[in-house]
Amino acid sequence: MCGIVGYVGYRDCSDVLVSALTKLEYRGYDSAGIAVFENDKIAVAKSKGKLQDLKDKMEIEGKLQGFAGIGHTRWATHGEPSDINSHPHSGKRVTLVHNGIIENYTELKDFLISKKREFLSDTDTEVVAHLLDYYYNKVQDPITAIIDTMQELKGSFALGIVFADYPNVVYAVRRESPLIVGIGKDENFIASDVPAIIKYTKDYYLLEHDEIAVLSKNGVEVFDIHNQPVQKELKTADWDVDAVGKCGYPHYMIKEINEQPNAIKNTVSPRIKDGLPCLEECNITTDSLKDIKQIYVVACGSAMHAGVVGQYVIEELARTPVTVDIASEFKYRNPLVGEGDLVIIISQSGETADSLAALRLAKNRGAKTLAIVNAMGSTIAREADMLIYTHAGPEISVASTKAYMVQLSVMYLFAFELALAKGRIDEEKCRYYTAKLLETSDMVKNVIDASTEISQKISSKLITADSLLYIGRGLDYALSMEGSLKLKEISYIHSESYAAGELKHGTISLITKDMPVIAVATQSDLYEKTVSNIKEVKARGAKVIMICQEGNDVPKDIANYVLQVPKFEELLLPMLVCVPLQLIAYYTAVQRGNDVDQPRNLAKSVTVE
Ligand code: G6P
Repeated sequence: MCGIVGYVGYRDCSDVLVSALTKLEYRGYDSAGIAVFENDKIAVAKSKGKLQDLKDKMEIEGKLQGFAGIGHTRWATHGEPSDINSHPHSGKRVTLVHNGIIENYTELKDFLISKKREFLSDTDTEVVAHLLDYYYNKVQDPITAIIDTMQELKGSFALGIVFADYPNVVYAVRRESPLIVGIGKDENFIASDVPAIIKYTKDYYLLEHDEIAVLSKNGVEVFDIHNQPVQKELKTADWDVDAVGKCGYPHYMIKEINEQPNAIKNTVSPRIKDGLPCLEECNITTDSLKDIKQIYVVACGSAMHAGVVGQYVIEELARTPVTVDIASEFKYRNPLVGEGDLVIIISQSGETADSLAALRLAKNRGAKTLAIVNAMGSTIAREADMLIYTHAGPEISVASTKAYMVQLSVMYLFAFELALAKGRIDEEKCRYYTAKLLETSDMVKNVIDASTEISQKISSKLITADSLLYIGRGLDYALSMEGSLKLKEISYIHSESYAAGELKHGTISLITKDMPVIAVATQSDLYEKTVSNIKEVKARGAKVIMICQEGNDVPKDIANYVLQVPKFEELLLPMLVCVPLQLIAYYTAVQRGNDVDQPRNLAKSVTVE
């Protein structure tokens, strides 16, 4: 969602802010703006649309000139996307940018209106700007005014702030919404995420809940909410600039699909000792797993779909009951979670508001919590009792591919270790599965190479469809959910996934010659049954794309296209089969001329409920 940047140093501030915002585009946005100290006065440029629109506007109206300022990409919550609602917002001597939601902004606005304050926009952010200016008027000190304002605000926020009376100083504060402070030489930065600053510096501080940072060209000071100085630990990002660039690929999504073999290797290899899963560094031991009676997997979007695959695998191997919940549903259904349960939160960003709320609820009820997270140091990573980092590197494309893949790989590792701990599989079997999991890295590479051309061809037949159905049984159904989400989010073609056996209970009435069906049939024990379902839709005119294993006996005329993946350990096949599903979604979106990496209305990191 919204992205924040800030800069103070010796470079052209407008250039730095816009370039840093470009690296936050993946978060999703519909307008952008910057504020820069121009000759000790704050100048603002903002525009509805993409960063290019902002650049075009500055081309006409004049580029802001200076060496310190703040910038923002906005994903509209309060008020439509428009120039006026774009950030930065000002309240007399204060100008700021905001990520998050102020829950009590209506009452604060009423209070400020009673103090003769006038508002131009519909945003909650403008209320914060005026409130901060109101306190600044009273106390005449930026930090005290920020603290007084924070005491009044309910909700989540990361703010980048400049005060007209303090040229070339940038203030920043966070509660819930993420914010880092980049440390350079004679220059310093703020940003919602590391990719924004990696071109300039790899060193940064992670701002904690309710900490305030003060940045000047020559230094950074951090204070807590009691105005006491805080000593921060300097962190260093271990990515290079290429990790956040396209490296010759036309889109981040296809780059990230191709990064999957390495991502699997980086995630799985360090967690294997003597051929067996070893999650001790994640605070998970055989003893801690033995007594788990019930597992809840809670997540959103693709991460939740990785959880559904995990459910099948854990129940199959460890015979431990698993419930998978959508995070936004979990926290409001008063779940029967408590002591003795394990709650697994899966999240690429580690900042998803609903997943974080679910984690806190689970902890409050006395359950053990395990986070499977990609973003280092994120809130979910820090708050869970146990933590397994996935090592996908930065995922920039909104549609998750490599992060989903490594989430799967961790669910497998965890399932193997749990099954061993519970005595459901012996060491030999566990070694076998672990070795197979390692092999998936090379296998995924082969599948990418082998299925690219046919995926392109299939996509060319899908681009005119209005609606699509994905069907499968068991693990194939779990995978279909992700295939369907991938397609709809970037191609804008409606699609849904359905358990193949359930089709006859209603959905089959939708089948016509205009409704393509993607049927996943990779599991031998269910193959014949899925084939029967495919025949049923084929008989009603559907164009069928069938995905199965090499060597499967595919009845004649059952499908318009058959896409085969190599024979492999069937339990692990989802890691191979998700590749053509990703490629079909990707090429369909490309052929429809869509913005693949930043699909309309979507945000990569959903930090509000
Ligand atoms: C958004 C993203 C998805 C992601 C979901 C959960 O919807 O577009 O790709 O799967 O959020 O995000 P998380 O960061 O918690 O995995």
